[in-house]
Amino acid sequence: MFKDKTILITGGTGSLGRALTKKLLKQDPEAIRIFSRNESKQIEMESEFDDSRLRFFMGDVRDSERLFSALEDVDVVFHAAALKHVPKIEYNPFESIKTNVIGSQNVIDNSLRQNVDKVICVGTDKAVSPLNTYGATKLLMEKLFVSANNYINHEKHRTKFVAVRYGNVLGSSGSVIPKFINLIKNNKPITITDLKMTRFTITMNEALEFILNASIAGKGSEIFIPELKSYDMSTLIESLNELYGEIKQEITGIRPGEKLHETLINHDEILYAWKLNDMYMLANPHYELFNDKNILENYNGIEKINEMKTYSSDVAKKITKDELKEKIIELGLD
Ligand SMILES: NC(=O)c1ccc[n+]([C@@H]2O[C@H](COP(=O)([O-])OP(=O)(O)OC[C@H]3O[C@@H](n4cnc5c(N)ncnc54)[C@H](OP(=O)(O)O)[C@@H]3O)[C@@H](O)[C@H]2O)c1
Repeated sequence: MFKDKTILITGGTGSLGRALTKKLLKQDPEAIRIFSRNESKQIEMESEFDDSRLRFFMGDVRDSERLFSALEDVDVVFHAAALKHVPKIEYNPFESIKTNVIGSQNVIDNSLRQNVDKVICVGTDKAVSPLNTYGATKLLMEKLFVSANNYINHEKHRTKFVAVRYGNVLGSSGSVIPKFINLIKNNKPITITDLKMTRFTITMNEALEFILNASIAGKGSEIFIPELKSYDMSTLIESLNELYGEIKQEITGIRPGEKLHETLINHDEILYAWKLNDMYMLANPHYELFNDKNILENYNGIEKINEMKTYSSDVAKKITKDELKEKIIELGLD
């Protein structure tokens, strides 16, 4: 799907963008355009990658005209640019609406104008029954992407819009494990909000594999979700204790906008959830197409989900302490 293609990644200098760029370069694309705001991050990435197939476009997803020119002759877009830090966004909510909602609509509008083949947006479990502004903006991003496929019925548009949704990426920028390890190394107590808290977890490699599989499987209008395990804070602390010796802890209490457990598919969404090989797929509930057997046959190996009531981090299969330890070691944060 990516050979000889021109790909644009919004947020290409972020944790996901860089890892995705590395992975996509192995699939012989014609060019990869990195679209983001900060010039220093672009310069750093440019010199680290040192690959003539990379092009660096400075721009803001809030700026529609800039996106229009950056998207000229692009075949595939990965839309990863976002504001994502929950406490920051709770304090500056409208900034995240500008980037995550209006910016996403700009990506959609200009992908349609430039006749891009496929656009994949990167969503989060925090968008499911959202409690915080970040989750609410990412829910709106998903909604915009799902409904953008309505244009496909108009003859002049062929762009397909697909969403992926997953949980916390181990070791990504601002995530809890690097933060805890940093505190441990500085001999400071790690700050735990609640020992009962559970979170889904995915490694960067698993996330990349899943995003690329979903990009290929997506025909437009779906939300894809990977099968993930979860962990609770006690297991994380036990793992860190075994890796770093007895660590100091401080319980700070749950923060505004934070949930005890996250959900990847809620009770109501299960009604239109399907299993597609090792992924879940939410069909567009407004799309009669998905009730059409002939269309469903287009998805090889699709099955209706019957037993599951909700897919949340408290009831999901748990990762063991040893598995978690292994994943922390793999991060190579020492
Ligand atoms: N990390 C996770 O655990 C996780 C889990 C689920 C989903 N996601 C989603 O995955 C995506 C990528 O996450 P990440 O961890 O890679 O985030 P990240 O490391 O913070 O990267 C964000 C990227 O977006 C760019 N950006 C921010 N605002 C922008 C704007 N207005 N215009 C253009 N570019 C902008 C940033 O560069 P500049 O600041 O230079 O513009 C950076 O390249 C996000 O959409 C996030 O919601 C992340």
